[in-house]
Amino acid sequence: MKTLILQPTEENIKIAGKALQNGELVAIPTETVYGLAANALKPESVTEIFSAKGRPQDNPLIIHISKKEDCEKYAKNISDKAKKLMDKFWPGPLTIVLEAKDIIPSVVTAGLNTVAIRCPENEIARKLIEASGVPLAAPSANISGKPSPTSAKHVFHDLNGKIPYIIDGGMCNIGVESTVVTLATNKPILLRPGKISREEIEKVIGDIDISEAVFHKMSDDFKAQSPGMKYRHYAPNAKIIVVDGEDEDVIRYISHNVADVDGILCFDGDENKFEKGLIISIGDKNDPMSLSHNLFDALRKFDAANVSKIYARCCLSSGEYLGVYNRLMKAAGYNIIKIGE
Ligand code: TXA
Ligand code: MG
Repeated sequence: MKTLILQPTEENIKIAGKALQNGELVAIPTETVYGLAANALKPESVTEIFSAKGRPQDNPLIIHISKKEDCEKYAKNISDKAKKLMDKFWPGPLTIVLEAKDIIPSVVTAGLNTVAIRCPENEIARKLIEASGVPLAAPSANISGKPSPTSAKHVFHDLNGKIPYIIDGGMCNIGVESTVVTLATNKPILLRPGKISREEIEKVIGDIDISEAVFHKMSDDFKAQSPGMKYRHYAPNAKIIVVDGEDEDVIRYISHNVADVDGILCFDGDENKFEKGLIISIGDKNDPMSLSHNLFDALRKFDAANVSKIYARCCLSSGEYLGVYNRLMKAAGYNIIKIGE
């Protein structure tokens, strides 16, 4: 199959919308990462997502809607807390897990009785959902286990020959996936951190819990609340070593250990502190948006350069930083060295 990268013109959006409606797969831009979309109401199309990505069948998908009113077509028992979150954060990078209505095929939910729903903010994404006339099931458009794609080029690299169209919406603004919160439990639980922080959510609906899987590697037999969290994720080919501690100590440690063939993932201003290795800054360490915007792109650049190891500086883990911290730790397989402890 030939994979075409299309600009988001009115005409191309119509073409892609029709293709989606008819059951084909289309990669679409969103404000978080690119998604690999299929008509969520057509089980045979949704099945193709799993084969194109090599995704384990027990990892459920998020469905994307273009307006919040559509939520009640696909979810039931929508609580006041859920409604408050939708009013505050939709359209936007928040995914809400709710009890599923029967119309949702079980291949979408991986057999769970809940469904994850999100209304993206990206205008091209919303136009595509509208043009297709159906909700779109869409995981990140990467080969399973690899860093999520934040540009059309990343998607092409992973899925060339497997899907007919990629809609090019430029680089994704946010760069890490949506925050996932479940309201299908007695007390809401943050399952995956993202741009919308725990604190922002708590301002709207009060106290929530946070899944253990956000901070720690899950043992193989751990039954994660969100099945996706037990898999290896975001990993470049090279092993990542996250180095945490005071700025100077971290720089000294990396300088001492790095080889020419290694990579260094660092922050703005660090670049000329190292004499060896492929050095990539992911942005201003005090600006979580710049870090999230560049993280996955940097991991893919290290892959392209075939580095043998990657030393990574560690970012904060509070508030809006938690999404970036969590992706970095997962990419590193929780391999962290704490200097001075
Ligand atoms: O930003 C995003 O959310 C992107 C864009 C494309 O919208 N999508 C995305 O999808 O990140 P994916 O499939 O890569 O991640 C979906 C996450 C997984 O961790 C999955 O386990 C969880 O959401 N999830 C989906 N349905 C669920 C459910 N019913 N209950 C609990 N977790 C669920
Ligand atoms: Mg993903």
